Order: sequence, then C-alpha cells, then structure tokens
Amino acid sequence: MMTEISLNVLDIANNSIRAGAALIEITVQIRRDQDALTIIISDNGSGMTQEQLKQVEDPFFTTRTTRRIGLGVPFFKLAALSTGGSFQIASTLGVGTTITAVFGLSHIDRMPLGDMNSTIHTLITLNTHIDFLYTYEFDGNQFTLDTREFRQILGDDVPLNSPEVTVFIKKYLTKNQNETDEGYHI
Ligand SMILES: Nc1ncnc2c1ncn2[C@@H]1O[C@H](COP(=O)(O)OP(=O)(O)OP(=O)(O)O)[C@@H](O)[C@H]1O
Ligand SMILES: [Mg+2]
Repeated sequence: MMTEISLNVLDIANNSIRAGAALIEITVQIRRDQDALTIIISDNGSGMTQEQLKQVEDPFFTTRTTRRIGLGVPFFKLAALSTGGSFQIASTLGVGTTITAVFGLSHIDRMPLGDMNSTIHTLITLNTHIDFLYTYEFDGNQFTLDTREFRQILGDDVPLNSPEVTVFIKKYLTKNQNETDEGYHI
C-alpha cells in the first residue's frame, strides 16, 4: 500500500499520461485555518464516458488489459475520506478529467504528503512531451512551476530532461517550496 500522498499523486498523474494528456495541472494547497490539505489533478486527456466515470471509483473496473483491477483512484479516494475529507472526480469525454481530494490536515489517519518535489520532478523529466503546471500553496502563499514557461526560455534545442535543466528544476522546486512554507512539515 502507498504510504505517502505524493506517491498517490504520481499514480493519478500516470492515469492522465495514459489518457494522452498534453497538459497536466497539479495543485497542492495547505490551509491550516481550514485544517485542509487539498490536491487537485487536472488533465486534458481522453476523458471518460459517464458509464466509465461511474465505475472508476469501483476497484473492479479498469480498461487495462494486463490486469483486471485498478486501484489508483479508489485508494486515493479512500485515503481522503478516511481523514474526514472529500473526493470528487469529474470527467468529460474528449475534454479531460479533474480529481479533487481534500484531506483533514491534522487527522491521525492522514498519510504524510511525502516528497511532492520528487513526484513533480519525475513527471517532468520522464515525460518531456507533456506540459505540467504545478502550484504549491501554503496558507495563502504560493508558487508555480510551468513547463511552458521553461520551454519558452530554453528554446527548442534544450530538452527538459537535459542534465542542467533537471538540476535547475530540482533547485527551483526546493527553493520555492521553502520560501512558500518556511520548512513547515506536512
Ligand atoms: N485521468 C484519466 N483520464 C481517463 N481515464 C482515466 C483517468 N484516470 C483513470 N481513468 C480510467 O479509470 C481506470 C481506473 O484507474 P485507476 O488508477 O484506479 O486504475 P488503473 O490505472 O487501471 O490501475 P492502477 O492505477 O492500479 O495501476 C483506468 O484504467 C482508466 O480507464
Ligand atoms: Mg492508475
């Protein structure tokens, strides 16, 4: 079983990649005054039919042929609900999918957030043809990482997985996270 929310996010974002998304937006929002940790993963991939959508929260539904049981979405939902939070999945065929999970921040059953920066770094460097918009928000402070902006600056000759760029992305995430949450442990 997964023990960190960041690993769940990696799994959910991999669904978006499999769905052919060109842009994946990931938002992590911590609001201590609302005792809430909110995760939003949104993509412009294939989307799902209403029938698929109804079944996707059911562990016995999956369109994969290699394995019968899909667990990514049901596990993420269970993880959120077991902290007194909420879970929502909205999808439109040909348009995309948005998953919103709210966790009770101080709930004893909440998994640690884990290393979100590694999740984002991994997603970007292993999927250089996909754009990512990452937003990290802590008590109203926020920063974003937009690969479309990086591409504009770098030009077409420097891929997002070139050594200099991957090091830069890692530093960018670490520095901005620290400035946003001042090292608060989530
Ligand atoms: N973002 C998405 N866009 C389109 N379809 C999706 C998306 N997310 C999930 N699905 C559909 O829902 C199914 C269930 O997803 P889920 O993550 O629960 O299981 P899985 O990906 O099939 O297997 P696992 O995550 O356990 O490896 C997927 O197989 C896919 O058909
Ligand atoms: Mg999955």
